[in-house]
Amino acid sequence: MAVPRLLLAAALVLLLLAVGALPRGADAQLSAGFYSASCPAVHGVVRQVVSQAVMNDSRSGAAILRLFYHDCFVNGCDASVLLDDTPATPGEKGAGANAGGSTFGFDLIDAIKTQVEAACPGTVSCADILALAARDSVNLPATPRHVYLPLTRACQLSEQLGGPSWAVPLGRRDATFPNATGAATDLPGPGSDLDRLVAAFAAKGLTSRDLAALSGAHTVGMARCLSFRARAYCDDNVSPAFASQMRGACPASGGDDAAAPLDAATPGEFDNGYYRNLVAGAGLLHSDQELFNNGPLDALVRLYSANGAAFSSDFAASMVRLGNVGPLTGSAGEVRLDCRKVNSS
Ligand code: HEM
Ligand SMILES: *[C@@H]1O[C@H](CO)[C@@H](O)[C@H](O)[C@H]1NC(C)=O
Ligand SMILES: *[C@@H]1O[C@H](CO)[C@@H](O)[C@H](O)[C@H]1NC(C)=O
Repeated sequence: MAVPRLLLAAALVLLLLAVGALPRGADAQLSAGFYSASCPAVHGVVRQVVSQAVMNDSRSGAAILRLFYHDCFVNGCDASVLLDDTPATPGEKGAGANAGGSTFGFDLIDAIKTQVEAACPGTVSCADILALAARDSVNLPATPRHVYLPLTRACQLSEQLGGPSWAVPLGRRDATFPNATGAATDLPGPGSDLDRLVAAFAAKGLTSRDLAALSGAHTVGMARCLSFRARAYCDDNVSPAFASQMRGACPASGGDDAAAPLDAATPGEFDNGYYRNLVAGAGLLHSDQELFNNGPLDALVRLYSANGAAFSSDFAASMVRLGNVGPLTGSAGEVRLDCRKVNSS
């Protein structure tokens, strides 16, 4: 009896070692109830402030969702992206995919943080606020609008449908330094081919299925001409009608900041319209269309384009996996009091 028990113990140790060796994205020790005793109000406060901001301008939801991705891909989900430049240390805001004012929403995070601090001083990290706000941005209904219903020949006030929801694992702590180099190297650009995209996600412990599902975030928000000019004028895997639409929105030279919706079909709705565009050769970014270009992810893109529920559930699961990338936990890092600067500054 003693020998098998020893074997069992050895197997258990090996198993634990194997789990420890998994990429950081896979095992993060966060939990949805992390603030249930220390700050139960945080959920309502974040949702309330995000809700007001999204009602006013649905683009602010897109901004927050993108910030969360840009945070998690640089040193893990540690709110490093929120840090302002200091004379000694350049932050991430001016580097790589964040440069040129491409990311925004920092003032909305500040507004949430102020209210959370009023409810529970020094308790909730900026990294967790960003994770909750990203979920709420996706899930909240966007601006109500008037729609004409042909069947009843009536005009009704309708709320655009929000996207999926999920329980957000919490317990992240905030970085005490930014990583401008990481922001420049770890976020793939809009000219990336599929191999580059898959490799960038794999480097964070995320699969190509995560890549396919998370890219569906481009069902909301806008991109600048600068980001899709090469596709508008030079790509061949693009529907001719859509290419001419893109050229109309983006001159061959100048007008770098002219913006176009990433999902022109249903720009304000968190739906699977992005994938229907891809199947039609109407992805706005070169990197978007790479997911559907006679490659290994074509089948998944077709599935999501036809089945909104499959997209919703995969997106929710992949957002949790994205949120598990390299968090600081326990006594690592700190709970920042001002999301823009470290406490010691
Ligand atoms: C797969 C690799 C990705 C690439 C190459 C990429 C690239 C881009 C680019 C170039 C823009 C437009 C920026 C500009 O022109 O200023 C953009 C916007 C956006 N991205 Fe991505 N992205 C990727 C993945 C993601 C992921 C995983 C998410 C979130 C889960 C995300 C969320 C967004 C959102 C919401 C916007 C619109 C923001 C706005 O309206 O200002 N992206 N992305
Ligand atoms: C509402 O949105 C506009 C941009 O669409 C912005 O300029 C303004 O500051 C927002 N107001 C509030 C209260 O968030
Ligand atoms: C910054 O990011 C790069 C790329 O991921 C990484 O190699 C480097 O170790 C990071 N630097 C710090 C100080 O964390």
